[in-house]
Amino acid sequence: MTEPLMALERVCKWYPVGSERLTVLQDVSFAVYPGEFVSIMGPSGSGKSTLMHILGCLDQPSSGRYVLRGRPVDGLTGDELARVRNREIGFVFQNFHLLPRMTALRNVELPLVYAGVAREERRRRALARLEEVGLRDRISHLPNELSGGQKQRVAIARALVNKPAILLADEPTGALDTRTGREIMGIFTELHQRGVTIVVITHDPGVASFAQRILHMLDGRLVGEERGRGA
Ligand SMILES: Nc1ncnc2c1ncn2[C@@H]1O[C@H](COP(=O)(O)OP(=O)(O)OP(=O)(O)O)[C@@H](O)[C@H]1O
Ligand SMILES: [Mg+2]
Repeated sequence: MTEPLMALERVCKWYPVGSERLTVLQDVSFAVYPGEFVSIMGPSGSGKSTLMHILGCLDQPSSGRYVLRGRPVDGLTGDELARVRNREIGFVFQNFHLLPRMTALRNVELPLVYAGVAREERRRRALARLEEVGLRDRISHLPNELSGGQKQRVAIARALVNKPAILLADEPTGALDTRTGREIMGIFTELHQRGVTIVVITHDPGVASFAQRILHMLDGRLVGEERGRGA
C-alpha cells in the first residue's frame, strides 16, 4: 500500500488563555496520499487555518503527531523545518501575500533566491510557471497593477516554482468573485492532473466540490467526509 504523504495522528492544538486552555483542534486524525486533491470545509473559527499551519510546518501540534513523508515533524530542527517548507510545500493565501514593490516575475523568483538557484535558471523557471498560469504578458506588472485573479495566479506560480509535492491553499478564492474563484479552482484541477498533491481550505461548498475528498470540520474536530466531483 502507498504511504501517506501527510498524516495527522490524534492531533490537538490548544492555547493558554489566562489559567485555562482554549482547545482549537481536538483529536484530529487523517491522511493525505500522494496525488490527492482534498478540501477542508468548516465555519469560521472551526480550526481550518490552524490545521493548515500544522500541515505546512508553520506550527506544531500541542499533542499528537504530524508525520510528513514518513518522518514525524516534531523530530525536526528549525532549520530542517524551514527546508521542508521551502522544498516540499507551496502556500497560497486568501490575500495573495505578494511583495508590493516587486514585479510579478520577481515575486515568483523569490523562493528560488532563498533556495540558492542561479540567476538565469531562476528567470527561466519563474517565466515557465507564469506562462502556465496564463500571465506571460503581465510579468513586469507590480501587484497593484494586477486584478485579484491575476494576483492569485502569480501567487500560485510562486508557490509552484520550487516544484513542491504539496500545495496548501487557505481560502484561495476568498477575495475573488465567483467566476474568478472558479478559474483559480480550474488551475488547481490542472495542477492535480499533473500530479501535485493539493489541500484547499474553504467555507464555500462550490469551491470544495472541485476536490476528490471533502473533509468537514466543526469546533476543532473532523466531523465527516464526502466525495467531491474531482473524485
Ligand atoms: N494564537 C492564538 N491564541 C489563541 N487562540 C487562537 C490563536 N490562533 C487561533 N486561535 C483560535 O483558534 C480558533 C480557530 O482559529 P482558525 O484561524 O484556525 O479558524 P478558521 O477555521 O481558519 O476560521 P476562518 O474561517 O475565520 O478563517 C479560533 O477560535 C481562534 O480564535
Ligand atoms: Mg482561517
